[in-house]
Amino acid sequence: MRACTVAPGRPDTAGVEEIGEPAVEVGEVLVEGLLVGVCGTDVEITSAGYGWPPPGHERIVLFHESLGRVLEAPADSGLSAGDLVVGIVRRPDPVPCLPCSKDQWDFCNNGQYTERGIKELDGYGAERWRAPAKYLVKLDAAIGDLGVLTEPTSVVAKAWDYVDRLGARAPWEPRTVLITGAGPIGLLAAMIGVQKGLDVHVLDRVADGPKPKLVADIGATYHTKSVADLGLHPDVAIECSGVGSLVFDLMNSLAPDGVLCLTGISSGKHALDVDESAINKQLVLTNSVVFGSVNAARRHYEQAADYLRVADPGWLGRLVSRRVPMASWPQALERSPDDVKVVVDLQA
Ligand code: BGC
Repeated sequence: MRACTVAPGRPDTAGVEEIGEPAVEVGEVLVEGLLVGVCGTDVEITSAGYGWPPPGHERIVLFHESLGRVLEAPADSGLSAGDLVVGIVRRPDPVPCLPCSKDQWDFCNNGQYTERGIKELDGYGAERWRAPAKYLVKLDAAIGDLGVLTEPTSVVAKAWDYVDRLGARAPWEPRTVLITGAGPIGLLAAMIGVQKGLDVHVLDRVADGPKPKLVADIGATYHTKSVADLGLHPDVAIECSGVGSLVFDLMNSLAPDGVLCLTGISSGKHALDVDESAINKQLVLTNSVVFGSVNAARRHYEQAADYLRVADPGWLGRLVSRRVPMASWPQALERSPDDVKVVVDLQA
């Protein structure tokens, strides 16, 4: 069967490879791969050498944002042939650390976790793949192809989950949200903020292309000004661009008791001239919280499925801006100005 494979850091090796059928040891449920979503991590794995192939292998089956249809499942698995499913990305470390022992692999604290399509486990970019039922989340059939947005939505569902928990340390009625970065993660974070009834603002560099209208069409406000020039004092800020300097700009703009969540990863080295004493004073005197958030636990995938179920399917459909057949999947890694979420069709 065909799979999308690459040797991390060697873009010339990215291509379609014939590999064997997935081994039963990988999981009792056999799934037909329908779509995979492409994100910055896949680009980093292919070009920048992030990612680790399975031990003893040079190449990894890429992709962690999945959508598939169950082909075979044991009777007691809670799944049956025909069910639409998404595979969970992370697996607990074998030790296991305390969070992994409680199925909170997203908080793994010894670094020995594995991730499908990213770290030591083959991903979901194959015509067929297997997973244990525990690591599969069943979707409503009605969501159809838009189910491929479940994994990126799970990442922001987790971010919002902990924004809410950290905010709840004191009486708190958040109203204003500022999201930086209008890529898929930023847009999905904005969608959840709007679903929560908040006044959502999204800031990005680009003034044209599909992003301004996508933001406006969910009832949020789009900005291209700097954080300082916006003059907003958000109760919640979610950084989704990975631009390091924005972290400090957002810290400075938070409202008292505000919560800032960082989800983007910066690349390269950039030295900043920051007044660390002023930031320290500001964070202490306003009881601010700044926290990082990565990956997602099972419940965040379930929350993601709920957020997507009540979202406007027309709007979600516009997020999926390009569909690339498996045979030419490396083209999905090339960014065009109109791209939001590019998906690879594993059946084409
Ligand atoms: C994935 C996460 C993963 C992270 C780090 C992200 O792109 O969505 O599931 O934990 O990369 O590898």
